[in-house]
Amino acid sequence: MCGIIGYCGPKPAAAVILEGLKRLEYRGYDSAGLCIYSDGRFHIIKRTGKIRDLRNSVPPLLKGDFGIGHTRWATHGEVNNVNAHPHTDCDDRIAVVHNGIIENYVSLKEKLKSEGHVFQTETDSEVIPHLIEKYYSGDLEEAVKEALALLKGTYGIVCMHIDHPGKLVGARNGSPLVVGIGNGESFLASDVTAIISHTKQVVYLEDGEVANIDADDFRTTDLRDQVIEKKVELVSWELEEIEKDGFVHFMEKEIFEQPESVKRAMGGRIEPDLATAHLGGLNMSNKDLLNIERVRIVAAGTSFYAGMVGAYLLESIARIPCTVEISSELRYRNPVVERNTLHFAVSQSGETADTLYAMRELQRKGATVLGICNVVGSTIARESDGGVYIHSGPEIAVASTKAFTSQVTVFYLFSLLLSRMRHMSYEEGVDFIQNLQSVPVKIEQILMNNQAIRNMAVKYSHFKDFLFLGRGINYPVAMEGALKLKEISYIHAEGYSAAEMKHGPIALINEETPCLFLVPDDGLKEKIISNMREVKSRKGKIIAVAVEGDSEITEISDDVIEVPRMKECFYPLVMVVPLQLFAYHCAVELGRDVDQPRNLAKSVTVE
Ligand code: M6R
Repeated sequence: MCGIIGYCGPKPAAAVILEGLKRLEYRGYDSAGLCIYSDGRFHIIKRTGKIRDLRNSVPPLLKGDFGIGHTRWATHGEVNNVNAHPHTDCDDRIAVVHNGIIENYVSLKEKLKSEGHVFQTETDSEVIPHLIEKYYSGDLEEAVKEALALLKGTYGIVCMHIDHPGKLVGARNGSPLVVGIGNGESFLASDVTAIISHTKQVVYLEDGEVANIDADDFRTTDLRDQVIEKKVELVSWELEEIEKDGFVHFMEKEIFEQPESVKRAMGGRIEPDLATAHLGGLNMSNKDLLNIERVRIVAAGTSFYAGMVGAYLLESIARIPCTVEISSELRYRNPVVERNTLHFAVSQSGETADTLYAMRELQRKGATVLGICNVVGSTIARESDGGVYIHSGPEIAVASTKAFTSQVTVFYLFSLLLSRMRHMSYEEGVDFIQNLQSVPVKIEQILMNNQAIRNMAVKYSHFKDFLFLGRGINYPVAMEGALKLKEISYIHAEGYSAAEMKHGPIALINEETPCLFLVPDDGLKEKIISNMREVKSRKGKIIAVAVEGDSEITEISDDVIEVPRMKECFYPLVMVVPLQLFAYHCAVELGRDVDQPRNLAKSVTVE
């Protein structure tokens, strides 16, 4: 989704802002723009397309020591140069970049127009500079606060005024904003990725907070001008983690990082002597944990599928009833919050609006909600009642890969913890841990099949429709595989329970609809083989992800991707990897923009 960077300091602002915008590309965008103050005036340049198009339009000699930049993911108004940010007031003396949606912009715009304001764009955002203009009488921060008080909706904004060189005012309500504190320079950004090459010292703004920065200082207040003392935090990851490191795409790099990222998700959380897990951030005593009677998981997209695997584990291993729900649906259906029910909000970014609002709704009803997040300091991580970081490191590709395996790993740990407090014996706990700890090596073995999976992707990438079929704990993995394929290759794919096929989707089977079956050697294998035969007898092509050396599966299938043998419940962590690679290579073969697929954003901060 949209990205923001603002800069005050001695470096050439245009270069800093263009670099920051480049690093924000991963969030997904369709146009970009910047405003630089130089020689006593604003230089505003906006372009549809990529940051390189914007960069090519910026005069090389444009210096300036403060400015703002934005990547836009269109919501209101088509994708064109005019609708790109920054937006300005009538006299081009105030420039604003905005993330989020102003819900009452129509009425505000009508009123402002009736008062003589002239609008240039179709966006909701443009009301902000006009409102600031209306209330400005020499004090920019005061005018911003008056303007913000009238807005309904969500915003992360940064604005600048031609009469206040070297100063930026930023504010947040529902859309993240951080202050970066450098040596004689300051930043405002929608995420730390944009500024990590300059500083690791940041202040995370909360909703309702306003930051006033210049090169040497910052000040934070609420909308009523009460000063708020903020803690300066240190970003824990390194710049190298957001570089491609020799890989062609971030997605490929992130798939290959999984042996390490799964290890990190477990790191320091296993207690071998007690054959259990220790999850420090839960903020729950053993007594609290013992009182849990039910679990409910809310999430969106890939995190939802990770939650589905988690629900399966919690029920089958820990024997605790568990449901998992799409966060956008839960929020609006007036959910019942029962006593002794623990809730999880699962989100890689920790900023997904649907999941954040679902979490707030649950908390409003008195629920305890734990976060399972990757981005440290993200809104869900901060507002949840406790939780677990997955420690995957930055996930830059829009398609989520390593976050999925790490989220699922956390659910294994949580299931182990609860099971060991209940029925699981010490010996069973030891066995569970050994199996979990063997996963990184097994993922490495699958990654060694990369070339074979690539060849298969080349062979199948011209098909227009796919079915991904799995059962039991691997059913969500089939859905995740289908999601990966459609989002980055734009090939239509559906994930189904293999058993459900006969209730409808089997009508689609012919030579043109390959079926990708997940076939571990578990209790449902014979049932899945029957489903495979049903496809075969209708001339459907079959790709199977099956256990190495399984000749029965090889005989029925057109192609087989082998995975190492595992204990039944651990298959999701390995079965998903060939599906990620298959989707990746299909997308590459089709010449897609793998890391920034069309229409998608990395963190979906609007409803
Ligand atoms: O940051 P989150 O985990 O909350 O994001 C949820 C979804 O938007 C995300 O998983 C999305 O489905 C990805 N593009 C999947 O690859």
